[in-house]
Amino acid sequence: MSTRPDGASPEIEKAVERALAALAPPGLIAGCRVIRADDERHFLPAESASILTRESRARSASGAGRQIAHELLQRLQCADMAVARGLLGNPIWPEGIAGSIAHDEEMAVAVAARSGAVGSVGVDIEPASPLPDGLRDLVMTPRDRVGGFDPGIAGRILFAVKEAAYKASFPLDGHVLGFEDIAVDLEAGEAVTSHGVKSSVRFSVTAKILALAYTLPAGD
Ligand SMILES: CC(C)(COP(=O)(O)OP(=O)(O)OC[C@H]1O[C@@H](n2cnc3c(N)ncnc32)[C@H](O)[C@@H]1OP(=O)(O)O)[C@@H](O)C(=O)NCCC(=O)NCCS
Repeated sequence: MSTRPDGASPEIEKAVERALAALAPPGLIAGCRVIRADDERHFLPAESASILTRESRARSASGAGRQIAHELLQRLQCADMAVARGLLGNPIWPEGIAGSIAHDEEMAVAVAARSGAVGSVGVDIEPASPLPDGLRDLVMTPRDRVGGFDPGIAGRILFAVKEAAYKASFPLDGHVLGFEDIAVDLEAGEAVTSHGVKSSVRFSVTAKILALAYTLPAGD
């Protein structure tokens, strides 16, 4: 886990790290960090060229995500630790690694695994509050199954799960998707894209809404 300069970890980092660890399938490791204004200092030279054009808050959030990603890659004993940005904003992980990054206004999270553990993975973090009505109508479609969840919070969970499922499907087929292109069954823990990418989805609602989507390794 990332720590403050005084060595203390904010409580929310501990809570989010615990929640992420509980969601992760075997072989997937995760980290989180409260975003600091100076987090853009964490970019490696191979990353900064692809990220420099963004505004300062976005650079801090991306820098916080990169800092976590570097820690995870070190733990996976990966020599190459740069995670550059692709043309559509997609993170380009080192060969043999599947990973994902997300941030909300306050925190960044990242997950990573060796490619034998998962085929691809997506993560999202959202504030634990209902989606505004207009946005909920955009995110929820008749094909989604939300079980017994309160419709307000179910909208935010679906939003997070669909973003995670998109991040997991994009490295496999390169399709840019809208919310209407992903059908989610929260009780079954499954998401399927309109191009047929099926992922397992897990989520938790604590201090934050966290969502994880992952596909099986090729051949499984
Ligand atoms: C991927 C996307 C949904 C992320 O949304 P967001 O709310 O802006 O940001 P999040 O904090 O959740 O995630 C940002 C991270 O997603 C990752 N990401 C961006 N595009 C990605 C893609 N195509 N595939 C996988 N991961 C991607 C990046 O690592 C990014 O962080 P970074 O810029 O610091 O590297 C958005 O960038 C996007 O591409 N939207 C277009 C399609 C869309 O919105 N569809 C509806 C949802 S399914």
